[in-house]
Amino acid sequence: MAASGEQKDLPGQSIESWWESAITDIAPGSIRIRGYAIEDLIGRISFPAMIWLTLRGELPSPRQAQLLGAVLVAGVDHGPQAPSIAIARMAITCGIGINGAIASGVNALGDIHGGAGQQCMELLSLIDAKCRSGAELYPAVAAALDEWRGWHGRFIPGFGHRFHAVDPRATRIAELLNQAVRDRVIAGHFVQMGEAVRRELARGKTSPPAMNIDGAAAVLLLELGFPPELGRGIFVLSRSVGICAHAFEQSCRGERIKGPLPPEVTVRYTGAAPRILPRDETLP
Ligand SMILES: CC(C)(COP(=O)(O)OP(=O)(O)OC[C@H]1O[C@@H](n2cnc3c(N)ncnc32)[C@H](O)[C@@H]1OP(=O)(O)O)[C@@H](O)C(=O)NCCC(=O)NCCS
Repeated sequence: MAASGEQKDLPGQSIESWWESAITDIAPGSIRIRGYAIEDLIGRISFPAMIWLTLRGELPSPRQAQLLGAVLVAGVDHGPQAPSIAIARMAITCGIGINGAIASGVNALGDIHGGAGQQCMELLSLIDAKCRSGAELYPAVAAALDEWRGWHGRFIPGFGHRFHAVDPRATRIAELLNQAVRDRVIAGHFVQMGEAVRRELARGKTSPPAMNIDGAAAVLLLELGFPPELGRGIFVLSRSVGICAHAFEQSCRGERIKGPLPPEVTVRYTGAAPRILPRDETLP
């Protein structure tokens, strides 16, 4: 703002366009999200529909909102074995607020913990690109898996689980997806691709990895037209609920500075043997 109070434009840019956004329009007494007045949305659309509207710019159909809601429900929590949850619980005992504890847990959601959904969406998108270039489904899957293994190693994101031979969340989402295909809510191309990847991984194995929640969520979100990066974002939104609940529950226990191990358990030391510090002037 210039000293006189009038707005001063930067070269080639008006000050009003510094933060251009197509999401929310704010004026005194008015909040519009993607063009809709917030007071019209409140009490009339579901939270998954609001997430869809905010991220995508248009309202979903009721069935689309239901499918997005299913993924949001499925990813909420997996207990304190999950590092994101344990970190949030430890963080809140250190005297930080619940926002800091939630941020600490969310920060642990990286490529290896929490990122498999986005990676699986990237893999399925690669298969989709091959099919669009004319490849048949199964050769496209085999080629994409080869490429993926060359880049990232033998574990394929969206399959297998440390605790669950069959992931109950994936089973339920598969039911909803199959129903949505029958009802023509989604086309089902990515459902077929996910199944083709599962079959390819099962070849020659006695206990092949089943599709897990990240794989099922990846299929569902691609069917709904979400890009891979938002797959990670939607998982973070979902898991934040569990992280918040665990951080709050932990804060109610009144424990202070809770570490990853009970105090009586010591960490196995693997460093230098005990040694004497010389008593002379050579010390730094
Ligand atoms: C979660 C994970 C670490 C569990 O691995 P694990 O404990 O070794 O799994 P299992 O012991 O049940 O493995 C059984 C077999 O399936 C294989 N397998 C498991 N997950 C696999 C995957 N994602 N891709 C390819 N093969 C897999 C194992 O290598 C093993 O084969 P083998 O007997 O020939 O060695 C692993 O499945 C994985 O990294 N998955 C991908 C990442 C992911 O989706 N994470 C989200 C989990 S919700």
